[in-house]
Amino acid sequence: MKNIAIVTGASSGIGKSFLKTIIKERGIFGGVPFDEVWAVARRADKLNEIIDSLGDDRVLPVTCDLSDPDNLAELEEQLAAEKPQVGLLVNCAGIGFKGAVEDQTAKALEDTLDINCTALSKLTRICLPYMIEKDKYLSKANGPRIINVASSAGFLPQPGFAAYAASKSYVINFSRALAFELMDYGICVTTVCPGPVNTEFQSKATGGAETEFSGFRQYVVADPDKLAEASVKASIKGRRMFVYGFSQKALHLASKIIPTDLILYIEHRTMPVERTSAAGYTEPDKKTEVTKEEET
Ligand SMILES: NC(=O)c1ccc[n+]([C@@H]2O[C@H](COP(=O)([O-])OP(=O)(O)OC[C@H]3O[C@@H](n4cnc5c(N)ncnc54)[C@H](OP(=O)(O)O)[C@@H]3O)[C@@H](O)[C@H]2O)c1
Repeated sequence: MKNIAIVTGASSGIGKSFLKTIIKERGIFGGVPFDEVWAVARRADKLNEIIDSLGDDRVLPVTCDLSDPDNLAELEEQLAAEKPQVGLLVNCAGIGFKGAVEDQTAKALEDTLDINCTALSKLTRICLPYMIEKDKYLSKANGPRIINVASSAGFLPQPGFAAYAASKSYVINFSRALAFELMDYGICVTTVCPGPVNTEFQSKATGGAETEFSGFRQYVVADPDKLAEASVKASIKGRRMFVYGFSQKALHLASKIIPTDLILYIEHRTMPVERTSAAGYTEPDKKTEVTKEEET
């Protein structure tokens, strides 16, 4: 039976860095190198470019739109046909759009929840039969692993990034529950919570407006390669929660001890959410109202 790793979001950013780490560290998981690494994303050209640059024929492209139930069903069929041992699942694909909720398209909101929450949960369900070895309690060091990439945005509600932050709260809570569900099977689930990372994500989140980190963010922005390496090490150590970087650890602590509404109120007063189109809301026309009152 072949031993495989599956990495979603592999066509760029942190997912690409996970690919690099996994193939570099041959035999990190229980000393057994993966026979294949399935690199999952929609953009076949990007996947092929990355795979060429890695120069490792164990990495195979799997073109899949995780928000499409038919594509997920195809992936499930592929697993059923090949019946591998899934030694590692990295759920890294994710998207988010900044701005007030009324400025978001319905599709943007739907995709955020579909990819960040639904697809991550469904793919985990699809892979688990190939990870759980019933009646065989493996040791934590050798057992299969799941790494779910959440975000420090999931620690607190985030006005101006509301759906994304809520979706990452889901990832944190789903993964933490899963860690205990799977504990007796020796399967380690690690929830990774980075702050800002230098990838395509930020410019996609702002529709291209934010391409470089400035102000305070330039000091806290993480390098995707270092993040992936540290996350894999945390998984090997059996960590269930991995908050990356000092600033994000401080934020995590603050989110636990300071009342949430107080944080949100201060944020609202100091950095109010910018509105662009204010779609669906128009200022009441006072003149018209007065005219109506006068008429009655
Ligand atoms: N960058 C940050 O500041 C940051 C901070 C905290 C957490 N994170 C989280 O880290 C993860 C990776 O983000 P990143 O920074 O590496 O972003 P990225 O460079 O934009 O990569 C996102 C990945 O998700 C894939 N993806 C998006 N929609 C998909 C779909 N419908 N089906 C399949 N794959 C899809 C993309 O591939 P295709 O477009 O080719 O499909 C791409 O490979 C995300 O979960 C994100 O929320 C990022």
